[in-house]
Amino acid sequence: MKLLVLNGPNLNFLGIREKGIYGNQDYAYLIERLQKKAEAEGHELEVFQSNYEGGLIDKIQEAYYTGVEGIIINPGAFTHYSYALRDALASVEIPKIEVHISNVHKREEFRHVSVTAPVCTGQVVGLGLKGYELAMDYLTEKK
Ligand code: DQA
Repeated sequence: MKLLVLNGPNLNFLGIREKGIYGNQDYAYLIERLQKKAEAEGHELEVFQSNYEGGLIDKIQEAYYTGVEGIIINPGAFTHYSYALRDALASVEIPKIEVHISNVHKREEFRHVSVTAPVCTGQVVGLGLKGYELAMDYLTEKK
């Protein structure tokens, strides 16, 4: 399968930012782990991170043209307020899983709202970096 992992703002700062919440492993570690898993299972995986809303939207639109079959997205803080990102996700009929490393429901109230989750297939929350792998398993398993 052709898969796309999208990470939003500040996720490139994994291992640097708020380690008590997001852990000690850095962004490079996450990407390597996902690439290895995809390779072992025979999937083609593209990974993209942007601190800019438009960068993520461009990538979602590009996925439409390039035949991406599954999207795993951690929109970071855009989750909570980006209607533009939500509209981009809603525009493509590709299965999409929203991932959050932390349990957003245990945190500040503004994190309890996701404007993007209603246009995703499902959501994995609070299971650390493992959440990305679980999302990949869901997208690639034969249903
Ligand atoms: C996050 C949760 C968001 O509230 C936060 O803004 C992030 C990371 C997570 O993975 O837990 O940047 O999406």
